[in-house]
Amino acid sequence: MSSPVHLAREGAVALIRVDNPPVNALGQPVRAGLLEAFAAAEADAQIKVVVLLCAGTTFIAGADIREFGKPPQAPFLVDVTQAIENFNKPSLAVIHGSALGGGLEIALACHYRIARRNARLGLPEVNLGLLPGAGGTQRLPRLAGVAVALDMIVGGEPITADEAERNGIVDQVFEGELLSAALAFAEQLLVRGTGPRRTGEADVPVVATANNASLLETKRDEVQRSLPGLFSPLRCIAAIEAATVLPLAEGLKREGMLFQECLQSPQRLALVHKFFAERKAGKIKGLDSAVETRPVASVAVIGGGTMGVGIALSLASAGLSVKLLELDADRLATALQRATDTLGKSVRRGSLSEQAMRQRLALIEGVTDYAALAEVDLAIEAVFEDIAAKQAVFEALDRVCKPGAILASNTSSLDLDRIAAFTRRPQDVVGLHFFSPANVMRLLEVVRGAQTSDSVLASAMQLGKRLKKIAVVVGVCDGFVGNRMALSYVREAELLVQEGASVQRVDGALREFGMAMGPFAMLDMSGLDIWQSMRQRQRATLGAGQRLPNLLDRLCAVGRFGQKSGAGFYLYPDGSRTPQPDLELVELLDELSSCPQLDIDPQSLWQRPLYALINEGARILEEGIAQRASDIDVIFLTGYGFPAQRGGPMFYADQLGLDKVLQCIRGYHRCFGANWQPAPLLERLVAEGKTFAELDQQG
Ligand code: 3HC
Ligand code: NAI
Repeated sequence: MSSPVHLAREGAVALIRVDNPPVNALGQPVRAGLLEAFAAAEADAQIKVVVLLCAGTTFIAGADIREFGKPPQAPFLVDVTQAIENFNKPSLAVIHGSALGGGLEIALACHYRIARRNARLGLPEVNLGLLPGAGGTQRLPRLAGVAVALDMIVGGEPITADEAERNGIVDQVFEGELLSAALAFAEQLLVRGTGPRRTGEADVPVVATANNASLLETKRDEVQRSLPGLFSPLRCIAAIEAATVLPLAEGLKREGMLFQECLQSPQRLALVHKFFAERKAGKIKGLDSAVETRPVASVAVIGGGTMGVGIALSLASAGLSVKLLELDADRLATALQRATDTLGKSVRRGSLSEQAMRQRLALIEGVTDYAALAEVDLAIEAVFEDIAAKQAVFEALDRVCKPGAILASNTSSLDLDRIAAFTRRPQDVVGLHFFSPANVMRLLEVVRGAQTSDSVLASAMQLGKRLKKIAVVVGVCDGFVGNRMALSYVREAELLVQEGASVQRVDGALREFGMAMGPFAMLDMSGLDIWQSMRQRQRATLGAGQRLPNLLDRLCAVGRFGQKSGAGFYLYPDGSRTPQPDLELVELLDELSSCPQLDIDPQSLWQRPLYALINEGARILEEGIAQRASDIDVIFLTGYGFPAQRGGPMFYADQLGLDKVLQCIRGYHRCFGANWQPAPLLERLVAEGKTFAELDQQG
């Protein structure tokens, strides 16, 4: 097999080129090839400067993540970076695309760096439950200071080439062609006779305003407050601290020990699962990869309420032109004002420029007449969750939209096939289930109807990517994957409250597990009415012996719909979004409690909602509503605040052991009855000694 690293000579310049598609990851052959090529350049007396660059769309995007957890193979990355830095001829890294993780660490080990203006540089290892383990925690603070290193390594977000230049990480930003920029910079080094400049030999700069120790302490406090329970961020800080007090060789040893601790952590396993699960979600089983997608440049959004405005803003942020249709001029004005207000808040927070705000708003045109939608490529309906309302909209779209236009519904639970049947082109109908707020949340459930064509499905997935969302294909059923599973989770949380646990205790237990918010705060945020309508349909088809709580219905009956009405499970006085406990709820509960206040075991407070989620997930998998268990994980990680370090409900179940999960579900079945009928797939997997991950591999 030929090496993925090639060495060529251009006069006195050695050109080392990495060519390892798709992202030039640092697998063993690349590591070995780099060492060999640098050593050959060092040994060649004609060579005065060594240039490292990459083929394809990106510089090296990091270690090969697939190698983690497997027996390590020499040469190790940390030895490669050390060797590169130690070579005696000046070396230049030429960055385009992304220089991430081990890729940036290789660049930091080179003596000089230049980057194309649209390149991104980052150390995102923390997102995989790791820390930069090839000298990044030691070299970056020496080059850019502790504050920048803490931001990049603990935050994990890449920075632009311009920011990298401002912070002393790159020497020059260039535009245009890679090789000519590389040769021009190499020529300067040659002319000036510049030698190596080793980052590892420099001291860590002390910032004038705050000393390094206090920067580290402040970050530690911040992490403990905002990322409780996460393993790697604190170790990232400890490794950066080592750079401030130890010489390079000892700092690297400390970094290596901390890296190994992270590598062994179950959180690393879960976060790497998340990385690959997100990418797998984009692959649709049985879809011909050659299927043609439909061009989407102009989009109509029908309904300018909470969701419609969020969707319009999301589309505009991706540069798409939007026609927002409302019932009348007054409602349209309210919707457009809401769009302006939302972006205005971002401008005030400093996350959006005035100019970007103006550009986005200019892309959104308000209309009240369907005739304006004749030429759109895609129409997304976001009107009331009512089948008659959907029918009126889809009949109108069918009348006016051009042939080939994609007709989408943002329904959160209604039958997409019924909606498609309101048109004469069900093959063009697809579900695009955005999550609230649609301009912020990354999850997009793409609902594949019985007749949705492959080209419409592929176009919907492509749109998701363009909107920077994680799109996951789901089948048709009440609530699709996310809301249907969440309904089981919420059912158990409510029953626990009706059995005597307080709303705050249940929410607290699930937050302690790691959920971004408890189930009741989530219900209040999304609006109880949406859940009530799903609950009512569920009630109509309830199996023998199954029971549903009625607390949520009672709250809706007295007009408590959650945050939007100022009260739900909690109170939200004066438009506040912070839940406040409501003592009156206790009285309502006394009335509702079907049994005396039970002494509820603390483990049940989180275990019952979560195991109900897993059991329903297994049913959904068996019915083919989700393509794979990892897709379910992606939905809960990106749409429902499931803790990333636990990898999603199905991954979490695998880690617990499906036999243990089933045993517990059987116990609940004996105790609480038919709600807890174990999912047949779960029973089958346990009988065969298999996991959800193994099931995914088979399919
Ligand atoms: N290792 C192995 N495979 C990788 C990879 C990596 N580091 N990065 C990406 N890939 C694979 C993906 O799984 C995907 O494979 P598939 O086509 O079979 O699904 C393919 O490359 C393309 O990836 P994306 O779909 O993500 O492509 P994009 O163009 O959207 O994004 C990217 C490209 C920005 C480079 C993105 O892939 C990314 O962020 N990659 C991960 C970067 C990272 O985390 N690096 C740090 C690794 S840890 C490390 O370096 C440890 C060191 O400090 C010791
Ligand atoms: P909403 O009540 O805030 O807004 C609905 C808007 O549609 C109103 O502004 C109304 O004037 C307009 N409208 C009604 N009939 C119309 C018609 N025939 N033509 C044009 N406009 C019309 O509702 P919301 O919350 O935005 O929900 C919309 C859809 O999105 C529903 O199907 C809902 O299930 C779904 N959804 C809601 C989520 C949420 O969290 N609110 C999350 C995901 C999906």
